[in-house]
Amino acid sequence: MKKNILITGGAGFIGSHLVRLFVNKYPDYRIINLDKLTYAGNLTNLKDLENSPNYVFEKVDICDFSAVQTVFAKYSIDGIIHLAAESHVDRSIKDPFSFARTNILGTLSLLQAAKEAWQTFDGKLFYHVSTDEVYGSLGKEGFFTETTPYQPHSPYSASKASSDHFVRAFHDTYGLPTVISNCSNNYGPYQFPEKLIPLFINNIINNKPLPVYGKGENVRDWLYVVDHARAIDVIFHSGKIGETYNIGGFNEWKNIDLIRLMIKVTDILLGRPEGTSEKLITFVTDRAGHDLRYAIDSNKLKNELGWEPSLQFEEGIEKTVRWYLDNSEWLNSVTSGAYQEYYKNYYSKI
Ligand code: NAD
Ligand code: TYD
Repeated sequence: MKKNILITGGAGFIGSHLVRLFVNKYPDYRIINLDKLTYAGNLTNLKDLENSPNYVFEKVDICDFSAVQTVFAKYSIDGIIHLAAESHVDRSIKDPFSFARTNILGTLSLLQAAKEAWQTFDGKLFYHVSTDEVYGSLGKEGFFTETTPYQPHSPYSASKASSDHFVRAFHDTYGLPTVISNCSNNYGPYQFPEKLIPLFINNIINNKPLPVYGKGENVRDWLYVVDHARAIDVIFHSGKIGETYNIGGFNEWKNIDLIRLMIKVTDILLGRPEGTSEKLITFVTDRAGHDLRYAIDSNKLKNELGWEPSLQFEEGIEKTVRWYLDNSEWLNSVTSGAYQEYYKNYYSKI
């Protein structure tokens, strides 16, 4: 094998797409997928790669420093692409400690293990995958750029901001070769049905309420997950050490408009009369500290590294809804047990 690449969080939503891209595109790389398999991690997301000769899985918690050290000792790691995290804002509001633990201390544990394991930093790279939410909230105008000051509002974004700072500190203090990307909201296959798009597709299928926070006027910039994985590939191979790259779709949608589009597409694909599921829309109390608008300026990535999103949103949404309809076994398995418990009280109240 030419290189050993450690991908953390590879059993999650974005991680599984990235692992698939790397395993298939780079047969000379050994891809080591390190994941704790929390509620959000699922090895069935990678079933097609089970027998690939250049893929291995290590069940490890990134907060367990000695276990992480053992992985570094076992494989001669050349590069890390770090995605493992607690990732859902609503959960972070309920349980901020687990976000601080995994996102901050877990990242620190990986940084320290890499610094200790690498005798020389030549040819090595620590790539940290982060979010645009670290920049806070935009008003009606403007975009986040790589120089926008950090102003996180949720425990999730505060923990990701802190992890970004630790990555930069390891670069500036110890010379660790690092790169960071901050991406907008992703959607696509294998996303856990707690985030807006898969949650609402699942609820439309099952005729359950669609809880719209506030008036549904918040805006997000949506990117198809495979385009994010492509961007990570480009930055991993051609990005400049010490730099930050913003990744986004130039694809802003007000939540309520996006929800109406999802209803339309899902009803059509389910063979229901148009507009049937509109009645499921339920306006609920707004999320605490709800950021009004995210929008990414990804021109640096486009101009310097030539990356652009490949998929139109309407096409991406249809593809995504079709995937959830065609993969009911996956959807049923991730929404059984603990998932039902998590949402039971919530749905009885709205
Ligand atoms: P996800 O929640 O679907 O997956 C997270 C993965 O990390 C899971 O497989 C989980 O088992 C694993 N994990 C969690 N805690 C762990 C621990 N302590 N040790 C080892 N593994 C652990 O998340 P995602 O949506 O795929 O996001 C991946 C990364 O991308 C995160 O760092 C997130 O902040 C970032 N990001 C996500 C989005 C988005 O829209 N989803 C946008 C920008 C950036
Ligand atoms: P989400 O998918 O949780 O991503 P993030 O909060 O990280 O942007 O939410 C996307 C948007 O949808 C956000 O403005 C909150 C809103 N939302 C709802 O209105 N209802 C819901 O049930 C969820 C999960 C989100």
